[in-house]
Amino acid sequence: MSSLELYGNLVNGEWTTSGETFEVRNKYTHEAFANVAKADKALIKQAIDNAHETFYNHKLSVTERYNILMKAAELFAERKEEIAQTMLQEAGKTITDARTEVERGIQTFIAAAEEAKQISGQGLPIQGSPGNEEKMAFTIRVPVGVVCAITPFNFPFNLTAHKIAPAIAAGNTVVLKPAEKTPVSAIKMAEILMEAGLPKGFFNVVNGFGHETGPVLMADERIAMYTFTGSPTVGKMIKNNTGIRKVTLELGNNSPNIIHHDVKDLDRAVQLVVTRGYSNSGQACISVQRVYVHEDIYEDVLQKAKGVAESLIVGDPSLDETNIGPMIGVNEAERTENWVNEAVAQGAEIVTGGKRDGAIFHPTILKNVTEDMKVMCEEVFAPVISIVPYNDVDNVFKRVNDSNFGLQVGVFTSDLHLAMRAAQELEFGGVNINDVSTFRADILPYGGVKNSGVGKEGPKSTIEEMTDEKVITLYI
Ligand code: SIN
Repeated sequence: MSSLELYGNLVNGEWTTSGETFEVRNKYTHEAFANVAKADKALIKQAIDNAHETFYNHKLSVTERYNILMKAAELFAERKEEIAQTMLQEAGKTITDARTEVERGIQTFIAAAEEAKQISGQGLPIQGSPGNEEKMAFTIRVPVGVVCAITPFNFPFNLTAHKIAPAIAAGNTVVLKPAEKTPVSAIKMAEILMEAGLPKGFFNVVNGFGHETGPVLMADERIAMYTFTGSPTVGKMIKNNTGIRKVTLELGNNSPNIIHHDVKDLDRAVQLVVTRGYSNSGQACISVQRVYVHEDIYEDVLQKAKGVAESLIVGDPSLDETNIGPMIGVNEAERTENWVNEAVAQGAEIVTGGKRDGAIFHPTILKNVTEDMKVMCEEVFAPVISIVPYNDVDNVFKRVNDSNFGLQVGVFTSDLHLAMRAAQELEFGGVNINDVSTFRADILPYGGVKNSGVGKEGPKSTIEEMTDEKVITLYI
């Protein structure tokens, strides 16, 4: 008999733990630390029934939604260390990154609570249209209905918060399928929301593996909208299988960053590109990957970057001083190793790193890469950055844009004209001037173009995605 904590599925306000279970392992020690009950087809159907019934028969006022989300934020703060320790185990996050993520999640909840009070439509100038002089028109925003949220392993708390808090703020009901590698922090979020006063039925959690839960979730037409963060392959599958229902997809990137010769503070730029290429072991969609450096400062940047990378502490994520912990699994670290070895076989050189110890991949810098190598043209999602020289702005903009992805890009320059050109010409959902692609403020719109996805997150934007605009006309 296992002594591991058993976590359940949440349906109609009840936690159920019957049926098959799966283990969640500590990503550093590889020991199992929790068991989670799998939701079978019948339970998933029950969760959708419940979310659907709740949406049509029970409403929460804006004040109730605000109070519940704010109370949840307060309870997260009280249980911050417990949630951080959970992510340390289930995601292998360094304890510092895990604590930061809880803080971010709290702010995401507070922002969503505040946005709940701002949901409004707009007046429409119908009287300017001939024949309609005696009419008035305006819009209201109404919740879409049942939202299905499918969340990733890399930010299991804050990226879940980015879907759940706005869904509740907008007046929807939710069925959440958390990443099977990291479900426990999302389960704790659900426990806390119930404790904060969210009535039963508004939030349901179904656990399991995507290939089993996905078909059941996608086929049910009572779900009005899907919000997914993860790989482009799964994102496309969701889009192709959900007909004309709404989707928001937050997918990958092979995040480029440009350091121009006129950068004001070169040391800061190098510190940022290196450390934010490796934070969360490079497992963020906006993690620095391709670094384009003007040829005048190229050698200097390479040396400085090597120094920063080699100063980082790699290892046990539970220690305060550790900067880089394990990747999500040994298989992912092996895949990274294969990509780096393949690049080397194709002519790349390792400036530092390139080594693997189990699930840990050491912070790596590559040079002499070409744009057709996987480490450049695909999403590496690992602590690997490639540093490439350029001498011409038009050419570097073209190379940066020549990607199937378009989530965020960083540009370091003190030339305002160049900064504005980057803002206009770089084909990305976000352009960070004098900051890295990895920079994200949770309150801002976030989302990409091309294969990086459709729709925007960030509490205000997500509420827009999760509500429909209804046009009202009135004959006076
Ligand atoms: C992501 O991986 O898309 C999210 C990154 C972040 O929120 O910092």
